[in-house]
Amino acid sequence: MKEYYLITGASSGLGTALAIELAKKNKNLILTGRNFQRLQLLKEQIRNVDVELFQADLRDETQCLNLISFIESKGIIVGFFNNAGLGYYKTFGEGDWGNLREVIDVNISSFTHMMFLVIQHMKKHRRPSRLVSIASMTSFLPLPHFAVYSASKLYVKRLHNIVEVELRGTPIRLHSVYPGGMHTGFMKASNQTLSEKASKTLMAPEVVARDMILSIERGKKVIVPGFENKLLKLISSFFTESFLTKVIGKVTSNFIRSST
Ligand SMILES: NC(=O)c1ccc[n+]([C@@H]2O[C@H](COP(=O)([O-])OP(=O)(O)OC[C@H]3O[C@@H](n4cnc5c(N)ncnc54)[C@H](OP(=O)(O)O)[C@@H]3O)[C@@H](O)[C@H]2O)c1
Repeated sequence: MKEYYLITGASSGLGTALAIELAKKNKNLILTGRNFQRLQLLKEQIRNVDVELFQADLRDETQCLNLISFIESKGIIVGFFNNAGLGYYKTFGEGDWGNLREVIDVNISSFTHMMFLVIQHMKKHRRPSRLVSIASMTSFLPLPHFAVYSASKLYVKRLHNIVEVELRGTPIRLHSVYPGGMHTGFMKASNQTLSEKASKTLMAPEVVARDMILSIERGKKVIVPGFENKLLKLISSFFTESFLTKVIGKVTSNFIRSST
């Protein structure tokens, strides 16, 4: 059985960087996203491993099931990066409900469905496997005007941590990742405009991907890429959520605004 690593949201940003990094480690890849053209361009860059593409909108449960059937027709998944996600930066109660609905659908429903399906698949083949959940620094730091996104990533953290305990003693190892701001399509897709100064603090997805893979190889269960993010996580643990929300709201109002 051929072994593959599956990445959702591989058509852009962190997912693309992860694909390139995993290929350097000679891992065969199954890459998915809605934008097939971008997936094809990525595939053309990777020559040393087997790369399979599957176009899917993960909000559609049938497409998720079709993705699993596709995987099982090719081989088995021994690594899963549950990465697809998006946000919508706007004061809660303003803007379009449809945008928030999409955040909930992708970050919560599709995320959970894919995790469920891949764990079933991994339990069936029983080979040593890794499952990686991409959360966010907003799982620790509540970000005003990004309430639904922050809550969705808190959900990811809680779900991941419980499943991690449930799966102890099986060949499936779980890792959760909490990136801070990165230079990807995320800011634009999330209706955020950053000041020039703030843009300079964003991490390159390639650096985050390298850090993640190294940390996973070392067996780290909780991965916070970047020194500043590690420090912020530590500092945040000393304060109440309501205090953090107030302070973060004040600070970020100087450098983030909603684009529309
Ligand atoms: N960038 C940041 O500042 C930041 C910080 C913390 C955490 N994160 C998290 O990191 C992960 C990757 O984000 P990124 O920064 O790489 O953002 P990105 O460049 O916008 O990439 C998001 C990916 O999600 C996929 N996606 C969105 N909706 C989808 C859907 N309905 N079905 C299938 N795929 C869908 C997109 O693919 P298609 O458009 O082709 O479908 C795209 O490949 C996300 O979970 C995000 O929440 C990002």
